[in-house]
Amino acid sequence: MSPVKVQKIVCIGAGYVGGPTCAVIAQKCPEIIVTIVDLNEARINAWNDEQYRLPIYEPGLVEVVRSCRGKNLFFSTDVDKGIQEADLIFVSVNTPTKKSGVGAGFAADLNYVELATRRIAAVATSNKIVVEKSTVPCRTAESMRTILEANAKPNCRFDILSNPEFLAEGTAIKDLHNPDRVLIGSLQTPEGLAACQSLSDVYAHWVSRDQILTVGLWSSELSKLAANAMLAQRISSINALSAICEATGANIDEVANAVGYDSRIGPKFLKASVGFGGSCFQKDILNLVYLSESLHLPEVAAYWRQVVEMNEHQKSRFAKRVVDSLFNTITNKRITVLGFAFKADTGDTRESAAISLIRDFLKEKANVNLYDPQVEEHQIWQDLAEASPNLSLETIKKQVNICSSSLEACKDAEAIVIATEWKEFKEIDWETVYQGMNKPAFVFDGRLLVDEDKLTKIGFKVVTIGRGSL
Ligand SMILES: NC(=O)c1ccc[n+]([C@@H]2O[C@H](COP(=O)([O-])OP(=O)(O)OC[C@H]3O[C@@H](n4cnc5c(N)ncnc54)[C@H](O)[C@@H]3O)[C@@H](O)[C@H]2O)c1
Repeated sequence: MSPVKVQKIVCIGAGYVGGPTCAVIAQKCPEIIVTIVDLNEARINAWNDEQYRLPIYEPGLVEVVRSCRGKNLFFSTDVDKGIQEADLIFVSVNTPTKKSGVGAGFAADLNYVELATRRIAAVATSNKIVVEKSTVPCRTAESMRTILEANAKPNCRFDILSNPEFLAEGTAIKDLHNPDRVLIGSLQTPEGLAACQSLSDVYAHWVSRDQILTVGLWSSELSKLAANAMLAQRISSINALSAICEATGANIDEVANAVGYDSRIGPKFLKASVGFGGSCFQKDILNLVYLSESLHLPEVAAYWRQVVEMNEHQKSRFAKRVVDSLFNTITNKRITVLGFAFKADTGDTRESAAISLIRDFLKEKANVNLYDPQVEEHQIWQDLAEASPNLSLETIKKQVNICSSSLEACKDAEAIVIATEWKEFKEIDWETVYQGMNKPAFVFDGRLLVDEDKLTKIGFKVVTIGRGSL
């Protein structure tokens, strides 16, 4: 069985993964026509925007889209046409945590994957390689194959591959251009291996062959969950230690540095913070917890669940430290929150620590000034309303004031809380900020971002994650 030379790719799902990933494939493979389709018309319109106001913010993305849109890269809402014309289909739809039914709160909601798969089966009239790009529970490819085979037209073959995406938001283009590895899982049959070869040949346009790892389907699916669980576990581990630092007078930066020097451990992902966010870590660990429970492995489930519980604890512990430091009450006090995205260099707010912090501040009846350089206003209102279902949006809008700069947000505040590590927060004119604040003026650094000594000299009372005041 010889591999098909891929000429046309369609990607179902024009989100944080499908958009950047397939734009880079188009950039690196000029002879392949790449079409990214989505049911969300507003999102597709933004991808096609003449001024390149794309629906997601990602450094370097505009340049990639500019270099190939209209040449071999297209964005469309015509999902069926995309499917019919392509010889390789990426399924890159969302797989959020289920909100209701069996496994609610843990299992992945595979409804979008199933709908996309059913659509492929319904409209395909020729052989297709179907690639799972979404993060899915182990053995999802089997369900996809069952759906495709049960609904396929005669003489229509589907080969299923798993090709999880390891990009991180904020560095997506860099990660896609220089991936640590590309992982492709396939059935170990002649047909499966040929399909795997076809996809490897696409990536080989810019990724060296020894970084393209080919494995079995189930290993590939599980490796994605395992990688995210281990990354999140490092953050929860360092955050657990940050609590000990605060209580003992040790300094988490010094501890992380000393620990990270050990070549068996390494320095990355050892930065203490107010907690991890993002659409993936929590969802994928909960998915692993659910998988473990389904396999009757309760101890394994409890082990991974603790990573998420530690993260929740870190967020509420930080909010409590703010209240405690402000003389045990923040009622009617003005608190400035700098940053709303779940991390720097993205406009994505999914599971952002800032949402939990503001929810807790609203419970205490504080007034909140908020500034983020990228997040859109409507997104902020939507997230805050969802996080505080007992408050009307009107009440939330009375308590929260969205500002257009750090300086404006800090004016007349009692305290500043740094929730996202945006680079521009490092360059704030702290002297001016200090002049405009009520005294004593507090800075709560949830991202180890500011120079504590410098701010203390100006007159601020600085409270930093993982640093005690002993
Ligand atoms: N965001 C990340 O950093 C990241 C990293 C690696 C992997 N992943 C995984 O990639 C997948 C996609 O994540 P995302 O962040 O891009 O999600 P997203 O919500 O940004 O995008 C998904 C898109 O799919 C579209 N869609 C859903 N069903 C569809 C259908 N039937 N037909 C056409 N379009 C449809 C939605 O309208 C949406 O625009 C998830 O499984 C996620 O876990 C995400």
